[in-house]
Amino acid sequence: MTTHTTPASTVESSPRAHFAHDFVWGMATASYQIEGAVAEDGRTPSIWDTFSRVPGAILGGDTGEVACDHYHRMPADVELLADLGATSYRFSVAWPRVRPDAGPVNAAGLAFYDRLVDELLSHGIAPWLTLYHWDLPQVLEDAGGWTDRDTVHRFVEYAVSVHEALGDRVPTWTTLNEPWCSAFLGYSAGHHAPGRQEGAAGLVAGHHLLLAHGLATQELRSRGADRLGLSLNLTVPDPSDAGDPVDVDAARRIDGMHNRFFLDPIFRGSYPVDVLEDTADRTWQDRPWLDVVRDGDLDVISTPIDVLGVNYYHGNEVSGHPRTDVVGVGADHPDRVALSPFPGSEHVTFPSRGLPLTAMGWEIQPEGLHRLLRRLHDDYPHLPIYLTETGAAFDDRLDEHGRVHDPDRIAFLDSYLRAVHRAIEEGVDVRGFFQWSFYDNFEWAFGYAKRFGLVHVDYATQRRTPKSSAHWYAELARTGSLPIPSPAGG
Ligand code: FCB
Repeated sequence: MTTHTTPASTVESSPRAHFAHDFVWGMATASYQIEGAVAEDGRTPSIWDTFSRVPGAILGGDTGEVACDHYHRMPADVELLADLGATSYRFSVAWPRVRPDAGPVNAAGLAFYDRLVDELLSHGIAPWLTLYHWDLPQVLEDAGGWTDRDTVHRFVEYAVSVHEALGDRVPTWTTLNEPWCSAFLGYSAGHHAPGRQEGAAGLVAGHHLLLAHGLATQELRSRGADRLGLSLNLTVPDPSDAGDPVDVDAARRIDGMHNRFFLDPIFRGSYPVDVLEDTADRTWQDRPWLDVVRDGDLDVISTPIDVLGVNYYHGNEVSGHPRTDVVGVGADHPDRVALSPFPGSEHVTFPSRGLPLTAMGWEIQPEGLHRLLRRLHDDYPHLPIYLTETGAAFDDRLDEHGRVHDPDRIAFLDSYLRAVHRAIEEGVDVRGFFQWSFYDNFEWAFGYAKRFGLVHVDYATQRRTPKSSAHWYAELARTGSLPIPSPAGG
């Protein structure tokens, strides 16, 4: 691993940052977080419908039952995306709409995405499709979920059904969103659906997710898809004390589990040796977990892809010592005890380094994004990179004039985009940026309490109100250039 040590919390670049004329200015969402209509037109439950009914699993007892009611308001939502200048829209397809109970194709469910894609195209917005943003059909979980190898084949069947319907109009196909979350938050930590807290199950699920990605990539490629990839949520772990071997080892472990567990199989066709050592004593069904990896699996997983989606919110300081001064890393929840999402490295802690935090308790750390992009460029094959998610939750409120002024979000996006711009100037091939999220939505275990949107949603009335950040982003998409001075006050 090559490291770039730039400990500053800000990123220097020319005051006015210009992006290429064809740089993609996108916005992102995901099916369960926005659609609602969970029992309509044949859709059957996903693991998130089930998990959101587990007492204490979701803040406030919220569910995705109605969410942003996007299923019924889609044309108006697309109109708003267009008004706000999005040149691409990253959305995900709900597996249990397209193949309810993982059974035969449901034409009514597919028709929704067919209409969505046409609506986007008619507004000049390029559809960017994610096949799996975490809504596994519950029946598959009942049979073992991602710990069962059969789920891989069910995923490929589902992927083919979506491609048969939309392959003629959707240019970019990504298989998975953040398999780290699906595997380790879902099966080891129990912070996400299906809520299992089984340590090694996360490793097994992670392998099957990667295999599903590889097989679906092969299958869609054979059917003519030529822009295929996935979105990984990657991190930048810095040892608390670079002179302390225990902290250095802890940072290596988190890099291994969070980044290289996914990057290495995909780009090098092998799991990292140190990660295998760290997890060697983890068993699945009374055998070493690695026994689930069969001959040929890694060849499938390393099937070439065309684009890499990077989701980045923050890195972390990492320690191998017990610490109490820790920050949120995404797996903590007020009403339910989550376990460590790092099987084999449960002792690792994430001390606060005093950086400003978002409403998620996540550090605001643009220089980490710059280092991450440099590191991908130095250590892995050069693929076009798209930031498929970044953004921030803040405690946004409608003011007495019915407006939402969110200078914190503008400052956040400005700083992260400058980090991207600096990486591009240094030769990293970043071609687009999808802000998370188009509008406020169901933020998983945090329900509706956390607002990530450029557009405010009043859940009682479903009224959409673009925040000041939405207008700022629209201007950016129009000019392709970050204004000077930094517009935080704006
Ligand atoms: C990512 C998820 C996305 C959203 C953001 C805040 O991990 O992919 O759905 O919840 O975090």
